[in-house]
Amino acid sequence: MLASIRADYDAISIEGARIVAELVRKKPDCVLGFATGSSPLKLYQELIRMHREEGLDFSKVTTFNLDEYVGLPPSHDQSYHYFMWENLFKHINVDSRYVHIPAGMADDIEEQCEWYEERIDEVGGIDLQILGIGENGHIAFNEPGSSLGSRTRIKTLTEKTRQGNARFFGSMDQVPKYAITMGIGTIMEAWRLLLLASGKKKAQAIKDTLEGPISAMVPATIVQMHQHATLLIDEDAASMLTVDWQLD
Ligand code: GLP
Repeated sequence: MLASIRADYDAISIEGARIVAELVRKKPDCVLGFATGSSPLKLYQELIRMHREEGLDFSKVTTFNLDEYVGLPPSHDQSYHYFMWENLFKHINVDSRYVHIPAGMADDIEEQCEWYEERIDEVGGIDLQILGIGENGHIAFNEPGSSLGSRTRIKTLTEKTRQGNARFFGSMDQVPKYAITMGIGTIMEAWRLLLLASGKKKAQAIKDTLEGPISAMVPATIVQMHQHATLLIDEDAASMLTVDWQLD
């Protein structure tokens, strides 16, 4: 695990985009795992800039998103489908046939989850998975208590996560109660992990993730076991760390 502490959100985003772009150039048909939320937003903007100005080519890239709310259609402005198309996919030359986002409207959610796992296997696994982190240390929608070996499945969202996202929905009642999420075991099989954390609100989760014991109660702590995990953290998110992590 490599922790890289950078000045601010812009700096982690630019470094994250550089790592993604390097892989896309080296392996044009790579498999990228994407995340939603504010953490990767600037990284996506930087990828869009690289596509426009430097011709970064996504035409052969396959993508898998971490999660999706159950019950929101792709056209809903809070669905993760909508987020990904608005904030990244429609601005780059990704082939929509190679884009995978769990279908939150699927009739048979269990079947959808199995299909998702099979698709990841069929393409040979995820080369690089981008991750954010919840204030309670969740990754994707693997809330505290999630099995560390879990696979893609439906999860009930915690009140804290729903409250955290309520601002996007207008009121708490409108925040979905369930989501489909890749499991922690699924995420851990990605060849490389890139976790982004910015801001004081993430400081406790980052302290737990880097310095705490591995625990299902803080799902992100499992990244300590990953062979190629890079944590890009800004100074605010790193503000509670006690160990002198690599500063570069
Ligand atoms: C949601 C998403 C996670 C994301 C987290 C943090 O719960 N399912 O994938 O990491 O929010 O979001 P943000 O990056 O906006 O802080």
